[in-house]
Amino acid sequence: MDLTSYRGRRVLVTGITGFKGSWLCCVLQNLGAEVAGYALAPATKPALYDLLSLADSSNTTIADIRDLDTLQSAFKRFQPEVVLHLAAQPIVRDSYKDPVYTYETNVMGTVNVCECVRRSESVVSFLNVTTDKVYLNRENENLAYQEDDPLDGYDPYSNSKSCSELVTHSYAQSFLRKAGVAVSTARAGNVIGGGDFSNDRIMSDCVRSVAAEKPIIVRNPTSTRPYQHVLEPLLAYLMIAQKQTEDISYAGYYNVGPDECDCVDTGSLVDLFCSTWGGADWRIEADGGPHEASFLKLDNGKLKRTFGWSPCWHIDDAVYKTVEWTKAWLAGEDVRRVVDRQIDDYLKGF
Ligand SMILES: NC(=O)c1ccc[n+]([C@@H]2O[C@H](COP(=O)([O-])OP(=O)(O)OC[C@H]3O[C@@H](n4cnc5c(N)ncnc54)[C@H](O)[C@@H]3O)[C@@H](O)[C@H]2O)c1
Repeated sequence: MDLTSYRGRRVLVTGITGFKGSWLCCVLQNLGAEVAGYALAPATKPALYDLLSLADSSNTTIADIRDLDTLQSAFKRFQPEVVLHLAAQPIVRDSYKDPVYTYETNVMGTVNVCECVRRSESVVSFLNVTTDKVYLNRENENLAYQEDDPLDGYDPYSNSKSCSELVTHSYAQSFLRKAGVAVSTARAGNVIGGGDFSNDRIMSDCVRSVAAEKPIIVRNPTSTRPYQHVLEPLLAYLMIAQKQTEDISYAGYYNVGPDECDCVDTGSLVDLFCSTWGGADWRIEADGGPHEASFLKLDNGKLKRTFGWSPCWHIDDAVYKTVEWTKAWLAGEDVRRVVDRQIDDYLKGF
């Protein structure tokens, strides 16, 4: 896939201080794009954004996505051509603790971004990053969700992302398409990779435990998720945003998930992590937490048929790259060099 058209493009990434946003910023910089960001300050210590010193190399506004005026000023200053919207409260358990904040950020945040795109004269391509959890989950292990399945996430996070989809669809129909702005949403699976320090994510829990030489605690080893390396959806987002700029008929809704053979349960993922790391072990500790889906699979056929896309890395590659990154980081290697090397490896197969 040729992504050379990003050279010199002005790309605004909301959520740039997060896990995906930081990797995305590096990919875009390596492609020669001019990158601006909009997000809250990094929420963890350490944070990938800080390890990569992205505050120095990206033109980032640290502010709240719920603040329309500040967001609008950032749009006016930067005049983006491409907008990739990743800012969100993305943790299911946190959404049970604070549903109002989750809806405000994920729904009104999306309204604000759509509104800035509507008022902008520079944007030609807009992509809203949602999630595999936007679908009405029928808890059927044989079912892989397709793009026209009903949207109705169960918990406040998933449901706020279903709403974010609907908001985007309405803005696209009512305003943006007529103005020649290509708009898509992308529903990706759970991502893993080096540098995710968030709470309540299985690979981050694994890394934290082995770094502290403690056994890994797993809550739901039988839950199945479409796990993929973080570079898989990021390059798919860039591909969709580019393709829809070339031909607006590509604008739409896309699942971005691994192939069926790589949809594994959490226990198998942790087994794979332990064997790749060497000498790590795990145990189950159910904590009676709130409802989370047991089975979640995405049908990635539309993305394949439309663009000839296919995933580059299997689940064992994704775990290997996560372990490789983590060991390099713990050994004090230059993190940007490791990230760039992994991006180059990935792009060879893309
Ligand atoms: N990580 C995954 O497995 C996964 C899977 C599917 C979809 N997604 C989606 O991808 C996107 C990025 O996820 P991530 O894993 O990088 O999450 P993350 O928590 O690492 O990053 C979230 C980003 O959003 C920003 N943000 C949060 N609240 C904000 C607010 N009120 N105002 C401004 N910025 C705010 C944060 O500052 C941060 O930059 C999210 O939209 C998430 O729903 C993630």
